[in-house]
Amino acid sequence: MSDRYVCGVDLGTTKVCAAIAERDEDGVQRILGFGVAPSAGFLHKGMVANISKTAEAISAAVALASNRAGVDVRVINVGVAGEHISSMRHRNYVTIADPDREISQEDIDRLKADLKTFPISPDRQILHIIPEEFFIDHQGGVQNPVGMAGSRLEAVNHLVLASIAAIQNIWKSVERAGFEVGEYILQPIASSVATLDDNEMDIGTLLIDIGGGTTDIAILHNHTVRYTEVIGVAGNQVTNDIREALGVVTEEAEALKKRYGYATERAIVKDEEILIHGVGARKNSRIPVSLLTQIISLRMRELFTMIDGKVRKAGLKDKIKAGVVLTGGGSLLRGCADLVEEVLGLPAKIGVPLESATGSLREIERPEYSTSVGLLTGLPAAKAPEEEQKKSAVFKPRKKRAKKGMLNQAWTSFKDFFDEL
Ligand SMILES: Nc1ncnc2c1ncn2[C@@H]1O[C@H](COP(=O)(O)OP(=O)(O)OP(=O)(O)O)[C@@H](O)[C@H]1O
Ligand SMILES: [Mg+2]
Repeated sequence: MSDRYVCGVDLGTTKVCAAIAERDEDGVQRILGFGVAPSAGFLHKGMVANISKTAEAISAAVALASNRAGVDVRVINVGVAGEHISSMRHRNYVTIADPDREISQEDIDRLKADLKTFPISPDRQILHIIPEEFFIDHQGGVQNPVGMAGSRLEAVNHLVLASIAAIQNIWKSVERAGFEVGEYILQPIASSVATLDDNEMDIGTLLIDIGGGTTDIAILHNHTVRYTEVIGVAGNQVTNDIREALGVVTEEAEALKKRYGYATERAIVKDEEILIHGVGARKNSRIPVSLLTQIISLRMRELFTMIDGKVRKAGLKDKIKAGVVLTGGGSLLRGCADLVEEVLGLPAKIGVPLESATGSLREIERPEYSTSVGLLTGLPAAKAPEEEQKKSAVFKPRKKRAKKGMLNQAWTSFKDFFDEL
């Protein structure tokens, strides 16, 4: 596997998906192959619950992708999710001694040094440091302060923290499958990179990736990540609600949801009667689609209300000018966008990996593959400091050549700030 190729592996709660792409200095050019292996039962809410089974699924998915692409894989980028993820906005500043003096690299170095002393609990590590903007004398919007005049220089960064143990379990699974980890990338960041175009990243978009075990959210604005969150409520919970309410087996609950379910009663096209198979002494019965939808809607409404609350609490609701992009397998539930519009009061659409990110491989242009496609591009400008990466004994970061993706171009001006961290 030369530097010409890149492999991304999404460790999802329902499936492991591997994608291999060809790249050049402008970034990912086209996806050459992808492969999927089931993961139900051993990846729980985005976290590894069984290392050897996860390793087997990684091997199987990569082998399929590898055969199709005709490329051998050694290094893979993996997605990270789970409720252990936390994120925050971090601000720090330095005073410029002489107000007439130009802001120099030395001042930026002092900001960097200060960031290294940021206190985090010993069981956690920094996964990403994503630069948002610089402020000079409280005036924001500065991308490259070197050479500008001012007396106070402030940096605002979006920090993503993860559990060291959760990262180690991913690393162990990848090693056991015979591969090396290239980059660890937060799943909602990967999904955003795959599905949002340049304007959506600029004007302000809320990305919601509804998976099986987790719903991953990100807000992108001014070409940077303003907010990330992983919520432990997603499609599997909806299936479980149907199972409990109707007394059916999980497979039937899942099939009913996909075939007849809606996220909101308002979206129902035909309120037909549907057959429910009896279990044990219970006979077959019939229920209207509207009743099934009521069960589903309760959970989906709870999820979107929770997201609305989080976005408001972060003070970012008014930044979402381009609306909501829904992705992940859970977004295939009919009426999902209608319910988002109703609960969040924002326009919503379903997002799939963009042609520019896939090189027109039609089969992968589906919501459930957004994360794996985004893992191919990654976020060179969002690397954590090396000492953070070394925190987990088994965590071996690999230095990689920077790529110029859509987001990366916007962040190049910030890049120097982090290169030496
Ligand atoms: N047509 C459909 N209608 C409703 N739900 C669907 C449909 N197709 C798939 N789903 C749901 O999507 C979920 C799986 O989505 P996805 O493949 O994105 O999850 P994952 O990436 O494996 O999990 P996670 O991201 O949570 O780790 C399942 O809960 C499944 O029931
Ligand atoms: Mg997923």
